[in-house]
Amino acid sequence: MSLQGKRIVVGLGGGIAAFKAVQLVRELMRRGAEVRVVMTEAAGRFVGPITFAGLTGKPAVTDLWAEDYAGEVHVELGEWADAIVIAPATMNLMARATSGQANDAVLATLACARGEVFFAPAMHHRMWSHPATQLNVRLLTERGAVVLGPVTGPLANGEVGEGRMLEPDDIADAVESRLAHTDDLKGTRVLITAGPTHEDLDPVRYLGNRSSGRMGYAIAAQALRRGAEVTLVTGPVQLPAPTGAEVVSVRSAQQMHEAVMSRFDRFDVAIMAAAVADYRPAQRATHKIKKGGGLKLELVRNPDILADLGAKRGSQPSVLVGFALETENLEQAARDKLEQKSADLIVANEASSGLGQDTNRATLVDASSASPLPEMSKRALADQILDRVRALLKHPSRKPRHEAERGAPN
Ligand code: CTP
Repeated sequence: MSLQGKRIVVGLGGGIAAFKAVQLVRELMRRGAEVRVVMTEAAGRFVGPITFAGLTGKPAVTDLWAEDYAGEVHVELGEWADAIVIAPATMNLMARATSGQANDAVLATLACARGEVFFAPAMHHRMWSHPATQLNVRLLTERGAVVLGPVTGPLANGEVGEGRMLEPDDIADAVESRLAHTDDLKGTRVLITAGPTHEDLDPVRYLGNRSSGRMGYAIAAQALRRGAEVTLVTGPVQLPAPTGAEVVSVRSAQQMHEAVMSRFDRFDVAIMAAAVADYRPAQRATHKIKKGGGLKLELVRNPDILADLGAKRGSQPSVLVGFALETENLEQAARDKLEQKSADLIVANEASSGLGQDTNRATLVDASSASPLPEMSKRALADQILDRVRALLKHPSRKPRHEAERGAPN
């Protein structure tokens, strides 16, 4: 009964895969969850609300205006649910969800979601690969939802392509593994750096790099979801601030250094995911540099935030995590960095993977092991990193101060 005590809303869009939602509801209940169903009008054309009422013992919500729901059913369900699983998620339903519409029972409930949100898309492969759908998937993911699948397989019209909904068992597995983590970092104070730094040359130009900040932001989002108190020191990025984090925006490596060093002794964990510029222009021109002949720039070294933190940390943070981007000898280079910067864990990436992308392939290197991970989403990698951090925190020699005071963690 792995989902014992969990409250899950299954929301159906109008697609042929709606019949699989029946199995999904059964599977979630079999694992111990309490399930309520909301459906769009179109979903009702594929499978009847009576089926879900019979399974769950509660009426399926199909209409926000039905007289038998006293109060605001979408607000109640959004508040009640630990997770909302939209299956099937049609092209139309995802588009409406992204644009913030709330004009039916499913969308209004989604808009009130307090817990985790999952979408299991199901559609024709051309609808799936449509740029509008792909953009919506990115937006939903950026806003914290989890998009599960689709997979490649036979579609409703007999064609084979990418657009088939994940099987109910696989959806239930994903929901289960995500809900399992909830609150396991409660009370842990986590400092994260993210994004690039911009080193100004003059009032309009800077030296920078292609880091999108997504890795650090994913770690912040996952740490928050797992109950941590998060401070995110971020370079210039185009990402929405994770809800619930203290966000400190900086521009240059020196500013990031200052922001981190003035705070680190308040944290149990520090994760340095920023792509900090190693050099900055020796002079920042007060006026825009005019073109002439050639131009020679003199650069000077920036402080190494991770190394300074490693050198000065004393007992805090209890766990220090760095990243390494390498083109060769990945593991050895990561191990060297682990020692040189006195870190506890290095997340090592090959230079070909990660930067500016949605997925990452990394090897986690600590003092005694190196674990190569398969390619995965930055969010999934964030959870793997946090799992390691949690294991390091639980080590008797490294109890965070607040836990040592309170007694053993669960
Ligand atoms: N880092 C930092 N401050 C810097 C440079 C790097 O905090 N001035 C941190 C990054 O946030 C990351 C790790 O150090 O956690 C990355 O190191 P890497 O990218 O490999 O760069 P360097 O340590 O500068 O090593 P290299 O000589 O390989 O560039």
